[in-house]
Formats: sequence, C-alpha cells, structure tokens
Amino acid sequence: MNAAVITGASSGLGCEFARQLDNEPNIDEFWLIARRREKMEAFAETLKKPSRILPIDLTKREELSILKDALHTNKPVITYLICAAGTGRMGKSMDIPPDDNAMMIDLNCRAAVDVTQMCYPYLRKGSRVLEISSTASFQPLPRLNVYSASKAFLTSYTKMLHYELIPRGIKVTAVCPYWIKDTEFIGQAEKTSKDYSGYFLASRTQSVVKMALFDSKMNFWVSTPGPVCFVHRIAAKFIPHEIMVPLVDLVRKL
Ligand SMILES: NC(=O)c1ccc[n+]([C@@H]2O[C@H](COP(=O)([O-])OP(=O)(O)OC[C@H]3O[C@@H](n4cnc5c(N)ncnc54)[C@H](OP(=O)(O)O)[C@@H]3O)[C@@H](O)[C@H]2O)c1
Repeated sequence: MNAAVITGASSGLGCEFARQLDNEPNIDEFWLIARRREKMEAFAETLKKPSRILPIDLTKREELSILKDALHTNKPVITYLICAAGTGRMGKSMDIPPDDNAMMIDLNCRAAVDVTQMCYPYLRKGSRVLEISSTASFQPLPRLNVYSASKAFLTSYTKMLHYELIPRGIKVTAVCPYWIKDTEFIGQAEKTSKDYSGYFLASRTQSVVKMALFDSKMNFWVSTPGPVCFVHRIAAKFIPHEIMVPLVDLVRKL
C-alpha cells in the first residue's frame, strides 16, 4: 500500500497538498496528522482517496507512538511525506511567553525531524519528502525572531537531508513560501502581537502547493513558490543581514 503522510492536515497547506495529490496514481491512502480529529474527518470526506486519521499533538513526543504503531502494523510505502505542521508567534522574542517560543521550536524543528526519521524506513526510490519551511528561514526576521530561527534550522536540516538521500533516489525539498493569506497561520501568529500589516503581495495556498510539487518533482533542494520569496532568497544571500534586518523592519508595517 502506497501512502502519502501529511502533517498539518487539518487546514491550510496540509489540506491543499492532499487536494492536489488526490489524483496521483502512486498514492492509495492519505495519512492525515494534526490535533483536530473532526476537521481532518470532515476534510477526508472531500477527498476521493481513502484517508487514515491520526490525531497527534506533535509537541507531545509520547503521542508519536500513534504514528510509529500505525507504520509498524501497516508497513506502507511512503511515496510522499509532507511535514506541513508549523506555527509562528509575532513580537519581540523577549515579550513572547516562553511556552510559545518553546512550542515553535518543538513543532517547527524537533517534530519535523522526529516524523521524518520515523518515516524514513518506509521511503523508497522515487519517494518525495517536502519539509514546509518559510522565506523566514533566509534571514533573521524582525518580530518573528524565534520563528525565523526555527525555520532556518528546518531549511538547513532539509538541505543536508536532500544530499544524504540522493544515493537512495529519494527527493527532498525545503519549501520556503512568503506570507500566505488563506490559511490559519497569520491568525495564530497574531495571537501574541500584530507586528506586520497588509501582508502585501501575499500568496495563496493553491499556487504555493502547485509550485512546491513541481519543484519537488524537479528535485530542487529549496523551493521558493512565488516571486517574493524567490527575490528574498537571492537578496538575503547577497545583501548582508545587517542591512536586510532594518530594511524588513522598515517595510513590515506597510
Ligand atoms: N501561511 C503563511 O503565511 C506561511 C508562510 C510561510 C510558511 N508557512 C508554513 O507553512 C506550514 C503550514 O502552515 P499553514 O499556513 O497551512 O497554517 P495553518 O493553516 O495554521 O496550518 C497549520 C497546521 O499545523 C497543525 N498543527 C499546529 N500545531 C500542531 C501540533 N501541536 N501538533 C500537530 N499539528 C499541529 C494544525 O492543525 P491542528 O491545529 O489541528 O493541530 C494545522 O493543520 C507551517 O509550517 C508554516 O510555518 C506558512
């Protein structure tokens, strides 16, 4: 049985990946992972392929045994692993409650590594791994310090994983989008503080996922699914962060 394992599958990008992969011939079943069972069940009803619902809080390491047991029992071939679970909180890092900072690190970094390593024995030649990082990983971002640092970790981890898995023929891509308006992410991030406004040129899930899947097919190690993140990646590579940080701080309220 071929499975697509998707974390963050109760909303936003996670759901959109399942939607766009619903006609993929090398997937028999979706394995949907998030905390909200009812949202995943309702979403699964909209898909043509069957889904297995795995309600897991990925910040609670002991709950990963649910995934481990399901993998051990069913021994699927994982043709797609998409780690989309992630969250951000805005504000100066010292003003964000320590539990929120810890949660971002735990979910965006540790959980992605844990899930990927747990799924690794079930990946085969041709399998595709997409770690959903962010354009925030390209430089330290004002009022998103811990979030951008967590995504810098994820992009770096994913690049090396891409290299490590080349001999096995497994394609690994760090997907680094700019703001996406039609997900729950911005609302969650603004829970602590509203430090960005306008979300000028924000992208949409449909185009982000379409480009990310294309880039993964091409086996790019980093995907910048949209013009802003593409330009940002280049700018952050060539312009010193000492300049980029105050620049972003100037434009974030536009
Ligand atoms: N939207 C943007 O502007 C943007 C830009 C760049 C990168 N990204 C990245 O894209 C990814 C997907 O975000 P999105 O925009 O689709 O946001 P979203 O709509 O908020 O989706 C986040 C998903 O993560 C799940 N999740 C949150 N905490 C969890 C936990 N403790 N355990 C298990 N699952 C958890 C949520 O489900 P439950 O609440 O049901 O658990 C939800 O399904 C994230 O990694 C984010 O950092 C987003």
